[in-house]
Amino acid sequence: MATAGTSTPGTHRRRILVGVGGGIAAYKVCSVIRHFTEAGHDVRVVPTRSALKFIGAATFEALSGNPVSTEVFDDVDQVAHVRLGQGADLVVIAPATADLMARAASGRADDLLTASLLTVRCPVLFVPAMHTEMWEHPATQANVTTLREHGSTVMTPASGRLTGTDSGPGRLPDPQEIAMIGELLLERADALPYDLSGRRVVVSAGGTREPLDPVRYLGNHSSGKQGFALARAAAQRGATVTVVAGSTADPGDPAGVDIVRVASAQELSDEMTKRAAEADVVIMAAAVADFRPISVAESKIKKGEAGPAPIELTTNPDILRGLVESREAGRIPRDTVIVGFAAETGDERGGVLDHGRAKLRRKGCDLLVVNAVGDGKAFGTEDNTGWLLSATGTETALPLGSKTLMSSRILDEVRALVPDERVAD
Ligand code: CTP
Repeated sequence: MATAGTSTPGTHRRRILVGVGGGIAAYKVCSVIRHFTEAGHDVRVVPTRSALKFIGAATFEALSGNPVSTEVFDDVDQVAHVRLGQGADLVVIAPATADLMARAASGRADDLLTASLLTVRCPVLFVPAMHTEMWEHPATQANVTTLREHGSTVMTPASGRLTGTDSGPGRLPDPQEIAMIGELLLERADALPYDLSGRRVVVSAGGTREPLDPVRYLGNHSSGKQGFALARAAAQRGATVTVVAGSTADPGDPAGVDIVRVASAQELSDEMTKRAAEADVVIMAAAVADFRPISVAESKIKKGEAGPAPIELTTNPDILRGLVESREAGRIPRDTVIVGFAAETGDERGGVLDHGRAKLRRKGCDLLVVNAVGDGKAFGTEDNTGWLLSATGTETALPLGSKTLMSSRILDEVRALVPDERVAD
């Protein structure tokens, strides 16, 4: 869908319509509104009548800095549903209750929010939150399918504690996660395709820690943000996603993703090798230590009199190369798509892209994402840029944008390589 907003393209300030449904998770949406206003966006909140039973209009007005209306008959002279819908660059519906999604899917227009939904032409993000039984009910699932067919993005709910004592899928994802997907839709200016349903994606993320003694390790600066962003984007495209995570710096908690924690390169290698056998797509976004101390002291190494002792190192397995070899040997399915990353600084022997091309040949993976690092680039930052090189020789520039946007572009290319039917071995 094209963006129909009237704000100037390319400027940061966009018009976001936040529709709030009548569920207890409405209180968490206050934080989403805050994320958007703090990012500089112009936010209009349109709650349903039942949303106002959970949170008062004054709260939404104070947070958004804009008046709040619920009925089509409020401000009739301004034809609010048309003005709001046509003026929006993004609509976020959270919590999207079962009833609200049913009304939206069937094109009802019985309040200001649903009437506005019929007039929008920008990306629409539904963020469901309800009890597991309601989420899994065939009627709800059919409505979700319809909304996706209509071009909306429907987020995968998080799993966890629900209102009352039960827990399961149906929890509203973290406000930060909702804001990230909202920003992604603004950057993409279209829906996130739901095209990885039924696929298994395994992503490694973060840095490894190679122990020296019980209190010390050799590590690196990887924050895990790019790997988690890939996991987030893949899950929202319908994939069953596992992240094998080393050390990370609060990369956010992607909804609907399994996270397995590891420390050393050897542990990461073991987990990736095991999980790759079941995966359709394997992405090595982790920053793996090439070397580890040859021995790990059982007790803390003391300073002693003699000053520092040299640390003897040995080489870690090259996990990515190992996965490619396993595929060649038939230990993992031959149509599994394998993606690597290359963090390069460039040197006297060549630029970032030259090193990337050589690495793609050396590793033998299907796609290699090449990032320039150093001078504060890539490590720990919110934005990223680079190139996507393929084994068939294509080279695509990945323009500067959020790590979530970069992930969605990488997954666009990954999806094109995933066969529609798996090849029997
Ligand atoms: N990688 C891996 N196992 C290693 C080292 C790296 O699987 N022991 C993976 C990384 O996850 C990444 C890719 O290989 O997907 C490239 O990592 P990078 O550190 O850039 O390359 P190296 O293999 O370490 O090569 P070099 O030191 O020559 O840059």
